[in-house]
Amino acid sequence: MATLNFLTGNSGKLTEAQTLLSPLGWEIQFFEINGEVPEIVEPQSDNLTTVALAKIAQGVELLASQGRLQESLLVEDSGLFIDALPQFPGVYSAHVLKSIGCDGILRLLDEERTAHFLTVAALWTGEAVEVFVGRCDGSISMEMKGESGFGYDPIFIPDESQNGLTFAEMTSEEKSAYSHRGRALRALFDYLNDDGA
Ligand code: IMP
Repeated sequence: MATLNFLTGNSGKLTEAQTLLSPLGWEIQFFEINGEVPEIVEPQSDNLTTVALAKIAQGVELLASQGRLQESLLVEDSGLFIDALPQFPGVYSAHVLKSIGCDGILRLLDEERTAHFLTVAALWTGEAVEVFVGRCDGSISMEMKGESGFGYDPIFIPDESQNGLTFAEMTSEEKSAYSHRGRALRALFDYLNDDGA
């Protein structure tokens, strides 16, 4: 089984990558140095791709410093974009979640509730960097619902959702079938397979 290191401190993201890629023959593990996920610096940018590329550049430097440059490494940056609040929370999604939370987002919205998630995944293949993008269209619920997942999952209803379920009311498999991250990682898997990696 091929191994992919995932540079993230978010166990929800790791679980979703494992849910999707493990059945396809990939073992996904936290990228750790001396048993710890290394800290990396996120640049101030209004662009998810810029952030993902900055993260992978730091990750590749860390791999090199460990003599592990031949290994593969995955990073990703995601954001929630709400049409009624242009570019918000967007690249500030992590900060906004910490400051006002899902409740705060619900208080800001009226009737216009369409939104989308974007994921930009950057993969170091052992030789080069490849970028994959996934998008999920949906809407913001009227109230928080569900216990699964993480982040904004309790308030996001993907358009494909049967019965208007939020991501937090779905299993990891159901979420991955529609989600921004699922789409980006399926594109990544197709690339790895086509490439014979
Ligand atoms: P990050 O910068 O990619 O880690 O994510 C930005 C913010 O969006 C964090 O607060 C995450 O919790 C949140 N987020 C990222 N992906 C998802 C998701 O799939 N569902 C819900 N929230 C997410």
